[in-house]
Amino acid sequence: MDMLVKLYDLPASDDTMSRLAADGISIRRALPPEKHKVLDWVRGHFSEAWASETDVAFARQPVSCFIAIQHKRLLGFACHDATCRNFFGPTGVDPNARGKGIGAALLLACLEAMRQQGFGYAIIGGVGPAEFYAKSVGAVAIEGSQPGIYRGLL
Ligand SMILES: CC(C)(COP(=O)(O)OP(=O)(O)OC[C@H]1O[C@@H](n2cnc3c(N)ncnc32)[C@H](O)[C@@H]1OP(=O)(O)O)[C@@H](O)C(=O)NCCC(=O)NCCS
Repeated sequence: MDMLVKLYDLPASDDTMSRLAADGISIRRALPPEKHKVLDWVRGHFSEAWASETDVAFARQPVSCFIAIQHKRLLGFACHDATCRNFFGPTGVDPNARGKGIGAALLLACLEAMRQQGFGYAIIGGVGPAEFYAKSVGAVAIEGSQPGIYRGLL
């Protein structure tokens, strides 16, 4: 299913970002020279399909992929406007780094970028953990959205 998020009512991200920064974790837009490293990481930790979507995010200017880094190590990624315009995803955090707020910070970084692009709402495409999105940014389910844009995927 897909979920809808109000971009005009996002929670402030400052506290989350400062808390992560205090642990040496930074959240920032990925740079094109990092593409091969990010794609390898996404393929290794998640799937070839997500690596393909991330590849598309790197083809945009500005790049529509955000990453979480600690001590020059990649801990997570999140993309928007990859498979469809106005869609968030895919996203993932290293299993050993989950539960620290990294997923929520990556989500907020993408949604803020989408708001700055001029969108009023964002769609979370093909949601897995609905509770994570509801809790982090007040996302609500879009009725009848399953199967959504990924129907008939090879
Ligand atoms: C979903 C995912 C990105 C969350 O990353 P994370 O860094 O662990 O998330 P956070 O620590 O920022 O969690 C934020 C809040 O959501 C909650 N949460 C996180 N994952 C959750 C889940 N799977 N189900 C329900 N709640 C969840 C956390 O408990 C936390 O709540 P709190 O603020 O009350 O403590 C991560 O679990 C992941 O990579 N999962 C596998 C890939 C995936 O499913 N991606 C999404 C595809 S749509």
